[in-house]
Amino acid sequence: MQERLQKILASAGLASRRAAETMITEGRVTVNGKVVTELGTKADPDSDKITLDGKPVSVSKKRVYLVLNKPAGYVTTLSDPSGRPVVTELIKDIKERVFPVGRLDFNTEGLLLLTNDGEWANKLAHPSHEVEKEYLVKIRGDLSGDKIALLSEGIKLDDGMTAPAKVGIIRVLEKNVWFTIVIHEGRFRQVRRMCEALGLPLVKLKRIRYGNILLDDLKPGEYRVLAPSDAKLLAGTDNKHSATEERKPFKRQRPGSGKR
Ligand code: URA
Repeated sequence: MQERLQKILASAGLASRRAAETMITEGRVTVNGKVVTELGTKADPDSDKITLDGKPVSVSKKRVYLVLNKPAGYVTTLSDPSGRPVVTELIKDIKERVFPVGRLDFNTEGLLLLTNDGEWANKLAHPSHEVEKEYLVKIRGDLSGDKIALLSEGIKLDDGMTAPAKVGIIRVLEKNVWFTIVIHEGRFRQVRRMCEALGLPLVKLKRIRYGNILLDDLKPGEYRVLAPSDAKLLAGTDNKHSATEERKPFKRQRPGSGKR
Protein backbone atom coordinates (compact mmCIF):
# COMPACT_ATOMS: atom_id res chain seq x y z
CA MET A 1 0.00 0.00 0.00
CA GLN A 2 1.27 3.45 -0.94
CA GLU A 3 1.97 5.74 2.02
CA ARG A 4 3.66 9.06 2.54
CA LEU A 5 7.40 8.67 2.98
CA GLN A 6 7.48 10.46 6.34
CA LYS A 7 4.85 8.03 7.63
CA ILE A 8 6.89 5.06 6.42
CA LEU A 9 10.04 6.37 8.13
CA ALA A 10 8.08 6.99 11.34
CA SER A 11 6.52 3.51 11.18
CA ALA A 12 9.99 2.04 10.72
CA GLY A 13 10.87 3.60 14.08
CA LEU A 14 13.53 5.88 12.63
CA ALA A 15 12.12 9.15 13.94
CA SER A 16 8.93 11.01 14.75
CA ARG A 17 7.00 12.06 11.67
CA ARG A 18 8.22 15.65 11.98
CA ALA A 19 11.87 14.60 12.26
CA ALA A 20 11.32 12.26 9.28
CA GLU A 21 10.17 15.24 7.22
CA THR A 22 13.48 16.95 7.93
CA MET A 23 15.36 13.80 6.90
CA ILE A 24 13.50 13.89 3.58
CA THR A 25 14.08 17.58 2.88
CA GLU A 26 17.76 17.13 3.74
CA GLY A 27 18.00 14.66 0.82
CA ARG A 28 18.83 11.64 3.00
CA VAL A 29 16.06 9.42 1.65
CA THR A 30 15.94 7.52 -1.65
CA VAL A 31 13.15 5.56 -3.30
CA ASN A 32 14.27 3.00 -5.90
CA GLY A 33 17.67 4.67 -6.14
CA LYS A 34 16.41 8.23 -6.54
CA VAL A 35 16.79 10.95 -3.88
CA VAL A 36 13.38 12.26 -2.85
CA THR A 37 13.08 15.67 -1.17
CA GLU A 38 9.39 16.34 -1.87
CA LEU A 39 7.31 15.92 1.28
CA GLY A 40 4.10 14.64 -0.33
CA THR A 41 5.89 11.73 -2.06
CA LYS A 42 4.34 8.31 -1.53
CA ALA A 43 5.92 4.88 -1.73
CA ASP A 44 5.02 1.28 -0.98
CA PRO A 45 7.23 -0.14 1.77
CA ASP A 46 6.49 -3.70 0.51
CA SER A 47 7.53 -3.18 -3.10
CA ASP A 48 9.70 -0.03 -3.25
CA LYS A 49 13.33 0.04 -2.17
CA ILE A 50 13.58 2.84 0.39
CA THR A 51 16.85 3.91 2.00
CA LEU A 52 17.85 6.40 4.68
CA ASP A 53 21.48 7.52 4.63
CA GLY A 54 22.15 4.64 2.24
CA LYS A 55 20.70 1.97 4.56
CA PRO A 56 17.54 0.04 3.69
CA VAL A 57 14.42 1.03 5.60
CA SER A 58 12.35 -1.88 6.81
CA VAL A 59 9.01 -1.44 8.50
CA SER A 60 8.94 -3.63 11.58
CA LYS A 61 5.47 -4.51 12.79
CA LYS A 62 6.50 -4.89 16.42
CA ARG A 63 5.99 -1.76 18.47
CA VAL A 64 8.10 -1.22 21.57
CA TYR A 65 7.45 1.28 24.37
CA LEU A 66 10.04 1.83 27.09
CA VAL A 67 10.12 3.89 30.28
CA LEU A 68 13.69 4.85 31.16
CA ASN A 69 14.99 6.59 34.25
CA LYS A 70 17.42 8.89 32.47
CA PRO A 71 20.48 9.67 34.57
CA ALA A 72 21.92 13.21 34.52
CA GLY A 73 24.80 13.48 32.06
CA TYR A 74 23.08 11.90 29.03
CA VAL A 75 21.74 13.59 25.90
CA THR A 76 18.36 12.63 24.47
CA THR A 77 19.39 12.97 20.82
CA LEU A 78 20.35 9.83 18.88
CA SER A 79 23.94 10.99 18.48
CA ASP A 80 26.01 13.81 19.92
CA PRO A 81 28.65 15.61 17.85
CA SER A 82 30.65 16.37 21.00
CA GLY A 83 30.69 12.71 22.03
CA ARG A 84 28.59 12.93 25.20
CA PRO A 85 26.75 9.76 26.29
CA VAL A 86 23.40 9.24 24.55
CA VAL A 87 20.37 7.68 26.26
CA THR A 88 19.98 4.88 23.72
CA GLU A 89 23.33 3.47 24.91
CA LEU A 90 21.47 2.47 28.07
CA ILE A 91 19.06 0.21 26.13
CA LYS A 92 20.86 -3.11 25.96
CA ASP A 93 18.58 -6.00 25.13
CA ILE A 94 15.87 -4.56 22.90
CA LYS A 95 16.23 -5.60 19.24
CA GLU A 96 14.12 -2.77 17.85
CA ARG A 97 15.74 0.59 17.22
CA VAL A 98 14.04 3.03 19.59
CA PHE A 99 14.21 6.80 19.85
CA PRO A 100 13.31 9.21 22.69
CA VAL A 101 9.88 10.83 22.81
CA GLY A 102 10.62 14.52 23.31
CA ARG A 103 13.68 15.48 25.30
CA LEU A 104 15.13 16.03 28.71
CA ASP A 105 18.11 18.32 29.24
CA PHE A 106 21.58 16.87 29.68
CA ASN A 107 21.41 17.47 33.45
CA THR A 108 17.74 16.56 33.94
CA GLU A 109 16.98 13.11 35.31
CA GLY A 110 13.95 10.93 35.30
CA LEU A 111 11.20 9.56 33.16
CA LEU A 112 11.95 9.39 29.46
CA LEU A 113 9.81 7.41 27.04
CA LEU A 114 11.46 5.65 24.11
CA THR A 115 9.71 3.89 21.26
CA ASN A 116 9.92 2.76 17.66
CA ASP A 117 6.32 3.90 17.10
CA GLY A 118 6.65 7.22 15.30
CA GLU A 119 2.90 7.75 15.09
CA TRP A 120 2.51 7.36 18.85
CA ALA A 121 5.45 9.70 19.53
CA ASN A 122 3.95 12.20 17.14
CA LYS A 123 0.59 12.09 18.87
CA LEU A 124 2.11 12.63 22.31
CA ALA A 125 4.24 15.53 21.10
CA HIS A 126 1.30 17.37 19.52
CA PRO A 127 0.47 20.50 21.59
CA SER A 128 -3.26 19.73 21.41
CA HIS A 129 -2.65 16.54 23.38
CA GLU A 130 -1.63 18.42 26.55
CA VAL A 131 -0.06 15.46 28.34
CA GLU A 132 0.77 16.35 31.94
CA LYS A 133 4.40 16.09 32.97
CA GLU A 134 5.30 16.19 36.64
CA TYR A 135 8.74 17.22 37.86
CA LEU A 136 10.44 17.05 41.22
CA VAL A 137 12.47 20.20 41.74
CA LYS A 138 15.08 21.03 44.36
CA ILE A 139 16.06 24.68 44.74
CA ARG A 140 18.52 26.44 46.98
CA GLY A 141 17.02 28.95 49.39
CA ASP A 142 13.31 29.24 50.00
CA LEU A 143 10.17 29.52 47.93
CA SER A 144 7.84 32.36 48.91
CA GLY A 145 4.07 32.25 48.54
CA ASP A 146 4.33 34.97 45.87
CA LYS A 147 6.67 32.84 43.78
CA ILE A 148 4.44 29.79 44.18
CA ALA A 149 1.55 31.92 42.91
CA LEU A 150 3.62 33.09 39.92
CA LEU A 151 4.73 29.55 39.05
CA SER A 152 1.11 28.40 39.31
CA GLU A 153 -0.57 31.23 37.45
CA GLY A 154 1.94 31.79 34.65
CA ILE A 155 5.26 33.54 34.11
CA LYS A 156 6.36 35.66 31.19
CA LEU A 157 9.25 33.92 29.43
CA ASP A 158 10.93 35.14 26.25
CA ASP A 159 8.61 32.84 24.22
CA GLY A 160 5.43 34.02 25.96
CA MET A 161 3.43 33.33 29.11
CA THR A 162 3.52 29.85 30.60
CA ALA A 163 0.18 28.10 31.05
CA PRO A 164 -1.10 27.56 34.61
CA ALA A 165 0.88 24.90 36.49
CA LYS A 166 0.24 22.92 39.66
CA VAL A 167 2.82 23.36 42.42
CA GLY A 168 3.10 21.16 45.51
CA ILE A 169 5.58 21.68 48.33
CA ILE A 170 7.24 18.40 49.31
CA ARG A 171 9.87 19.37 51.86
CA VAL A 172 11.22 22.62 53.31
CA LEU A 173 14.73 22.28 54.70
CA GLU A 174 17.08 24.83 56.16
CA LYS A 175 18.89 25.50 52.87
CA ASN A 176 16.66 23.91 50.23
CA VAL A 177 13.07 23.44 49.18
CA TRP A 178 11.78 20.43 47.28
CA PHE A 179 8.59 20.90 45.30
CA THR A 180 6.69 19.32 42.44
CA ILE A 181 5.42 21.14 39.40
CA VAL A 182 2.97 19.78 36.85
CA ILE A 183 3.00 21.35 33.40
CA HIS A 184 1.50 20.24 30.13
CA GLU A 185 3.46 22.38 27.70
CA GLY A 186 6.63 21.00 26.22
CA ARG A 187 8.68 24.13 25.80
CA PHE A 188 12.45 24.04 25.65
CA ARG A 189 14.00 23.99 29.19
CA GLN A 190 10.68 25.19 30.52
CA VAL A 191 11.03 24.38 34.22
CA ARG A 192 14.59 25.68 34.36
CA ARG A 193 13.56 28.89 32.62
CA MET A 194 10.58 29.35 34.96
CA CYS A 195 12.89 29.01 37.97
CA GLU A 196 15.49 31.32 36.40
CA ALA A 197 12.80 33.96 35.75
CA LEU A 198 12.01 33.98 39.48
CA GLY A 199 15.65 33.91 40.60
CA LEU A 200 15.29 30.40 42.05
CA PRO A 201 18.63 28.54 41.94
CA LEU A 202 17.74 25.08 40.65
CA VAL A 203 19.82 22.26 42.13
CA LYS A 204 18.05 19.19 40.78
CA LEU A 205 15.34 18.49 38.22
CA LYS A 206 13.74 15.09 37.79
CA ARG A 207 10.67 14.09 35.77
CA ILE A 208 8.59 11.70 37.85
CA ARG A 209 5.47 11.34 35.72
CA TYR A 210 4.43 11.54 32.08
CA GLY A 211 0.64 11.42 31.72
CA ASN A 212 -0.42 8.35 33.68
CA ILE A 213 3.02 6.74 33.59
CA LEU A 214 5.04 6.93 36.80
CA LEU A 215 8.78 6.55 37.20
CA ASP A 216 8.09 4.36 40.25
CA ASP A 217 11.17 2.66 41.63
CA LEU A 218 13.31 2.56 38.48
CA LYS A 219 16.91 3.36 39.36
CA PRO A 220 18.90 5.79 37.17
CA GLY A 221 19.79 3.95 33.95
CA GLU A 222 17.10 1.27 34.43
CA TYR A 223 14.12 0.87 32.14
CA ARG A 224 10.98 -1.16 31.89
CA VAL A 225 8.82 -2.19 28.98
CA LEU A 226 5.43 -0.50 28.84
CA ALA A 227 2.53 -2.70 27.80
CA PRO A 228 1.04 -1.51 24.48
CA SER A 229 -2.33 -1.13 26.30
CA ASP A 230 -0.73 1.35 28.76
CA ALA A 231 0.94 3.14 25.88
CA LYS A 232 -2.46 3.47 24.17
CA LEU A 233 -3.98 4.77 27.40
CA LEU A 234 -1.29 7.44 27.52
CA ALA A 235 -2.04 8.54 23.99
CA GLY A 236 -5.73 8.76 24.93
CA THR A 237 -7.25 11.37 27.18
CA ASP A 238 -6.93 9.79 30.62
CA ASN A 239 -3.44 11.01 31.35
CA LYS A 240 -3.66 13.31 34.36
CA HIS A 241 -2.79 11.42 37.54
CA SER A 242 -0.40 13.08 39.98
CA ALA A 243 2.63 11.09 41.06
CA THR A 244 2.45 12.60 44.53
CA GLU A 245 -1.27 12.95 45.17
CA GLU A 246 -3.84 10.24 45.54
CA ARG A 247 -4.98 9.17 42.11
CA LYS A 248 -7.32 6.82 40.38
CA PRO A 249 -5.76 3.38 39.98
CA PHE A 250 -4.44 2.50 36.57
CA LYS A 251 -2.88 -0.61 35.27
CA ARG A 252 0.76 -0.72 36.28
CA GLN A 253 3.47 -3.12 35.27
CA ARG A 254 3.78 -5.97 37.75
CA PRO A 255 6.83 -5.34 39.94
CA GLY A 256 9.84 -6.53 38.04
CA SER A 257 7.92 -7.37 34.86
CA GLY A 258 9.89 -6.27 31.87
CA LYS A 259 12.25 -4.30 34.14
CA ARG A 260 15.84 -4.43 33.19
N1 URA B 1 12.09 21.47 31.82
C1 URA B 1 13.40 21.73 31.80
O1 URA B 1 13.81 22.83 32.12
N2 URA B 1 14.23 20.74 31.44
C2 URA B 1 13.83 19.52 31.11
O2 URA B 1 14.66 18.66 30.80
C3 URA B 1 12.46 19.25 31.14
C4 URA B 1 11.60 20.24 31.50
